Amino acid sequence: MAPITGKAKVERLRPAAAERLDLAVRPRRNRKAEWSRRIAAENVLTVDDLVWPVFVCDGENKREAIPSMPGVERHSVDEIVRVAEYAVKLKIPALAIFPNTRRELRDERGSEALNPDNLACRALRAIKKEFPGLGLVADVALDPYTSHGHDGVIAGDRVLNDESVAILVDQALVLTEAGADVVAPSDMMDGRVGAIRKGLDEHGFVDTQILSYAAKYASAFYGPFRDAVGTNATLTGDKRTYQMDYANGDEALREAALDVEQGADMLMVKPGLPYLDIVWRVKEAFGLPTLVYQVSGEYASIMAAAQNGWIDGDKAMIETLTGFKRAGADAILTYFAPRVAEKLTKL
Ligand code: PBG
Repeated sequence: MAPITGKAKVERLRPAAAERLDLAVRPRRNRKAEWSRRIAAENVLTVDDLVWPVFVCDGENKREAIPSMPGVERHSVDEIVRVAEYAVKLKIPALAIFPNTRRELRDERGSEALNPDNLACRALRAIKKEFPGLGLVADVALDPYTSHGHDGVIAGDRVLNDESVAILVDQALVLTEAGADVVAPSDMMDGRVGAIRKGLDEHGFVDTQILSYAAKYASAFYGPFRDAVGTNATLTGDKRTYQMDYANGDEALREAALDVEQGADMLMVKPGLPYLDIVWRVKEAFGLPTLVYQVSGEYASIMAAAQNGWIDGDKAMIETLTGFKRAGADAILTYFAPRVAEKLTKL
């Protein structure tokens, strides 16, 4: 066959169909160079968008690896203060504190949750003393304190709503007294936001914010967190009688509406990536500060794939976090917080 030259060559490279294209609008023009993509970007992730969830354990000078969460550790109280110092240095606005309560302190009613000297309270006090300007979010739920791993008290296989709420109010008070700026009920009992608001106000804590886990789904993605706080070992059954069914979207709006009515200052959707539609709808409907929790299983999935060389972990991290911003989230609870802040904050 003769070599293709001249006109024949051009025709070969620009087939007839392409010649008929007459495009005034070419979306690719704005993507043609890095500078142009930066100008056109609609959402930008900043360090102000981050809340860093951290785990506390007993002991001194102690850090324990959590195998299902590569790069995440539990820290003893003295160590968690150093974590807080690092958060301040990175300009991360807030930490969320999660205790791994010693097994022998867990009982049927989660009594340790009301001990003003429990692990969470000791951590809150120690951090607040050294870094009063760092926001501290404390989880309100009984699961790290109960022998059965449920977020409330039980009778047989039922998780009791109203009895649990009464205890959660006291837990919120104990955490606030210890230094929590924000209490975050993650238990999904009905009526807890209003009851907690009333309890806080009656005790003069009118400025303590409530970050309600308004739409918290019964999810397979909490597995590594339950390793971190020791509830995989304790949990009997599942949490589907109180956490939401992932088939439902309208129900999330009803849940959020109830929490707003009852005095929630901020709303949270959890987990993150499978629920971007819920983030969008909740933000649109209520316009409150809307947070999303990129939960442990999401973190672990990205880390595991990255460690296998199957995806670029840092890129996947930024992509998912920017996706939350695009969906309308005002802030993100993420175990990637220090790693992404290291990239975003020039030390
Ligand atoms: C418990 C609680 C859970 C998480 C935060 N608070 C787990 C659960 O409901 O079992 C999950 C966070 C994560 O997976 O990162 N009230």
